[in-house]
Amino acid sequence: MRFDAALSNISKKSISFGKSLLSTIEPFDTDDKVKSTGNGIILPMYVYVNNRPVPKAEAVVSVFDHGFLYGDGVYETLRVYDRVVFMLDEHLGRLYRSASLIRLTMPKNFDQIKAALYETLDVNSLENAYVRITISRGHGPIGLDPDLCKEPTFVIIAEDMKDYPQSYYEKGIKTVIAQTKRNLKDALNPQIKSLNFLNNILAKIEAKEKEAYESIMVNASEHIAEGTISNIFFYRDDILCTPSIACGILDGITRRLILDLAVREGLTVREGEFTRNDLFAADEVFLTNTTMEVMPVCKVDAVRYGVGSVAKLLRKVYRDEVRTYVESIKGSGPSLLGI
Ligand SMILES: Cc1ncc(COP(=O)(O)O)c(C=O)c1O
Repeated sequence: MRFDAALSNISKKSISFGKSLLSTIEPFDTDDKVKSTGNGIILPMYVYVNNRPVPKAEAVVSVFDHGFLYGDGVYETLRVYDRVVFMLDEHLGRLYRSASLIRLTMPKNFDQIKAALYETLDVNSLENAYVRITISRGHGPIGLDPDLCKEPTFVIIAEDMKDYPQSYYEKGIKTVIAQTKRNLKDALNPQIKSLNFLNNILAKIEAKEKEAYESIMVNASEHIAEGTISNIFFYRDDILCTPSIACGILDGITRRLILDLAVREGLTVREGEFTRNDLFAADEVFLTNTTMEVMPVCKVDAVRYGVGSVAKLLRKVYRDEVRTYVESIKGSGPSLLGI
């Protein structure tokens, strides 16, 4: 479906915001070396490296690691609410798929990863956390051949989740459409959540140079693809639109859930190919990912949008879904939590 409405026909609620909104505030802070318990006791933070949690200062990998040398590896970002890892099976499923797409033999099975993950949360006393699982090809002599590496490197970083500023959700974030195109999907399959992030980093640099928070990338055929770390939705003519997987985007776990929730709420949804003019003509725009959940957009290039009722509704039902999920896992007994 194509919406090629002229820009001039669009009326948009204008929203102004201060410069502080433009800086890159991330919901995690890897500079924390310690965690205060609040009663004066300072605990070192631990990172899980290969087979055990080690203090952050000792959490290092070799300069010969092929993740460092070539970006040869995969990762997954997860979010923990009240000590429950949200959609754990879906994230681990995607991690295994990513690994298999680069012929990387996972060093641990499903249950071992779950156990390592909960051990990392426990040792850091984390309740609401951001978690990153990284698996690289491992260390070995210089050279592209994966067989040079005998064993993958396995790392779990878990940090206190510092929520995005409330103002982001209230006012929306500023975005730009990047000049940097999304990688050709036939050159690098976007379903591989790989350590090779330069395509997205180049687009992020563009956003920062234009004092925006996120870049929206188009694909080689000029269709809207996704953000640098997010999927994109827009609402126009009573239809919730989002680029289809065929546009060369990551099959986001939040995206999929939002599509399901939207249908459950009675919205008409359309996955397809959309141009930048379709986006400019939208009534509202929002981004999704595991950490930001549903994030309204107040600006794409020069076009302004209000924080609309659809983004608000979907953010609410997403949060309700998280709550229901967390309660159901908690209700099913401690063994599921790995404790
Ligand atoms: C390129 C890209 N697209 C989309 C997403 C959103 O995926 P998810 O909802 O699974 O977090 C991410 C998340 O890291 C991403 O890196």
